[in-house]
Amino acid sequence: MSAYRDKESSNAEGGSDITFDLSSNELVLSPLPTVLAAIEEGLPRLARYPDPTARDLTRAIAGHLCVSADEVAVGPGSAGVLQQILLALCGRGDEVVYAWPGFDAYPLLVAISGATSVHVPLTVSGGHDLDEIRTRVNARTRVVILCSPHNPTGVVIDHGELCGFLRSLPDHVVAVIDEAYVEFHRNSDPAGMPKVLREHSNAVVLRTFSKAHGLAGLRVGYAAGPREVVATVRKTAIPFGVTRFAEQAAMLSLRSEDELRERMAAVTAARDELTADLVDMGLPVLPSRANFVWLPLASAAESFARAAATAGVKVRACPGHGVRISVGDAEAHRTLLAALGQKDRGNRL
Ligand SMILES: Cc1ncc(COP(=O)(O)O)c(C=O)c1O
Repeated sequence: MSAYRDKESSNAEGGSDITFDLSSNELVLSPLPTVLAAIEEGLPRLARYPDPTARDLTRAIAGHLCVSADEVAVGPGSAGVLQQILLALCGRGDEVVYAWPGFDAYPLLVAISGATSVHVPLTVSGGHDLDEIRTRVNARTRVVILCSPHNPTGVVIDHGELCGFLRSLPDHVVAVIDEAYVEFHRNSDPAGMPKVLREHSNAVVLRTFSKAHGLAGLRVGYAAGPREVVATVRKTAIPFGVTRFAEQAAMLSLRSEDELRERMAAVTAARDELTADLVDMGLPVLPSRANFVWLPLASAAESFARAAATAGVKVRACPGHGVRISVGDAEAHRTLLAALGQKDRGNRL
């Protein structure tokens, strides 16, 4: 087991020649002015610990999702919350099933919990093979992770199929539905999930402020699910894991729905332009519902990433599978497309 991406400093793989980092699915836009102002205002209180329960944010999220506060657990990024979930529910000898390739922190977080990862290959269209995932669930399975829109392909799980899958799971298994990118797909509409949570007592939804809300640097995310699971998950949290800045910024961001919607529209328009440009060049690109696109290039993935890096653009290669490119600004896209031999088209970001 090695540390998460320990061979790279997150924004500088390829050294100082990298001008555009399109490798981490960060939001290309700067933080909301209200968020920046609140952070500046909070600076004099840096000597103080934050609220250990992040009560105000927990309540705000519960209100946003139409669930109660004891059905919400917040933590340092959704990766932090997922770690809490796995530590709470899994141990040595247990198994955690998920589609692969997937978010590259999953194997690490599962290993830290002592459990074993069971990888199920994606379908050729980059989606979850729910039948195969169900087949791999057995008496040792504690958690199934479903990611929708999926990282790295951007493909979403059909709602009806998701519900059927959740109904088919045995009682000893919890399904974690990782919706890190859901706002790009559903324009921050939280309506679907409370219903899923109410109807399926074995489902936990995982969300983050890192992506659509643009707060990756502050580290704040949450899980919503059955109160017994949430109560257990809170026990594995590190004390004071959510800073006052993160709490404030997340609450402000939740209240900025109109701005968020406009931002999502701009990002998804830029994503669709980038997709069209790449397709025009004859490259295979899956239709993504997130803030990145996936090129299933198989063995050509690494050479593609190297060509992009030579032009100063860092993308994420998933060796043997494909390349994931995060939506960037117009200049980043122009540079990438020029490097790939495409004429300038640009986007509005
Ligand atoms: C699918 C998925 N889940 C969770 C995360 C973790 O996000 P964070 O810990 O910043 O909330 C990421 C980050 O890239 C992701 O791609």
